[in-house]
Amino acid sequence: MHFKVSPSKVEDARVTVPGDKSVSHRSLMLGSIAIGRTDVSGFLAGEDCLQTLAAMRALGVSIEQPGPTEISIEGVGLNGLRASEKALDLGNSGTAMRLMAGLLSGQVFDSVLTGDASLTGRPMGRIITPLSQMGARIDSQNGKPPLRILGRSELRAIDYELPIASAQVKSALLLAGLYAKGTTYVTEPAVTRDHTERMLRSMGVRVATAGRRISIEGGQALKGCRVKVPADLSSAAFVILAALLAQNADIVIANVGVNPTRTGVINILQSMGADISMENAGQLGDEPVADVRVRSSELRGRSVDPGLVSLAIDEFPVLFVAAAAATGNTVFSGIGELRVKESDRIAAMAEGMRRLGVTVDESPDGAVVHGGSFAGGSVESFGDHRVAMSLAVAGTVASGEVIVRDVDAVDTSFPGFCACMASIGANIEVVVEGSV
Ligand code: S3P
Repeated sequence: MHFKVSPSKVEDARVTVPGDKSVSHRSLMLGSIAIGRTDVSGFLAGEDCLQTLAAMRALGVSIEQPGPTEISIEGVGLNGLRASEKALDLGNSGTAMRLMAGLLSGQVFDSVLTGDASLTGRPMGRIITPLSQMGARIDSQNGKPPLRILGRSELRAIDYELPIASAQVKSALLLAGLYAKGTTYVTEPAVTRDHTERMLRSMGVRVATAGRRISIEGGQALKGCRVKVPADLSSAAFVILAALLAQNADIVIANVGVNPTRTGVINILQSMGADISMENAGQLGDEPVADVRVRSSELRGRSVDPGLVSLAIDEFPVLFVAAAAATGNTVFSGIGELRVKESDRIAAMAEGMRRLGVTVDESPDGAVVHGGSFAGGSVESFGDHRVAMSLAVAGTVASGEVIVRDVDAVDTSFPGFCACMASIGANIEVVVEGSV
């Protein structure tokens, strides 16, 4: 599948985007090991979360889907999961693989975790090292999936300083910590998304956070609860950017999750001159939400604060597009983690930008994007959902038609992307392979 994007007239609109991917994954995993029922609304029925749903069912959990974005989980308690007959295929999802590895390290049965070509190329040493220190036994292919997790390991608490900022690694250790003897401490080098901590607390678990140090005592029971998933700011980011780059648009995206551990993208864009405000701020369950209002703005290039990287980790592909459309140069630094996401996102975006006539200087952990404008052209997504959607947004303001190749992965995080973009006036047509 390809996108054919034509220059667009993005106009005033009020839209919604699908539920938060991180919160949806966690609702499934935590709901499954809770006691009692967890009802989830606003669930993201994207491919990544559906793989996690299938994995939890394979582990013996009964999960119903009363509506397209509603799920109901009959929790089996901390020790109620049972062995899956087959390897658990987690598709494209690093979050599912890493969090499940933590969860499954504490079970009395063996499990095998695998995934697609992208996921089986991603580094797992970052979870294998600390989980092994806790007593888990995990076989891998030189630090990459498939992972074979041996059960009946007696887990013990550790005090671990994360070498890289990663909510996935932090969450894996907190989940394993539930099964460990003693209190597990995790210290992060920079604050990362805290959805696991929030949901655990909603389920009655004591999790202490003191700055960048988080702790959890093993053996605590989770109680099923109601989870209301906010709209995903990472998906809203594509709409935000299309609105900013338009001639004269005023767009509101309703009920978006604005957890401060996620709002780096808004802070970075505001520092570039973006007119973004949050209206009707409130709380949806344990997560803060607001309507995000965006008005078209003249963006200015700048040096992006590396302190904001972990708070905007998934938004750099779209921030590259913002930088390319700004006046002057934008300097990104401290973004080396982007090289081990669903694709090497620095290389993928630099390549896409260049094909659209933008100059990008790459370094191992950064890039300088020279602001200007986009020409038409044909670009690759490298099978990465966020690269595909970012390049499609660039196409809405390019001087000619933009073809974005290999966009099937968009459904992992943003089912309905094209319809949502059409509702604001973006001309993004889906073209089935072979017909371009
Ligand atoms: C996620 C954490 C981030 C992010 C990913 C989702 C999560 O990964 O890139 O899309 O749900 O915990 P890292 O924590 O490894 O940076």
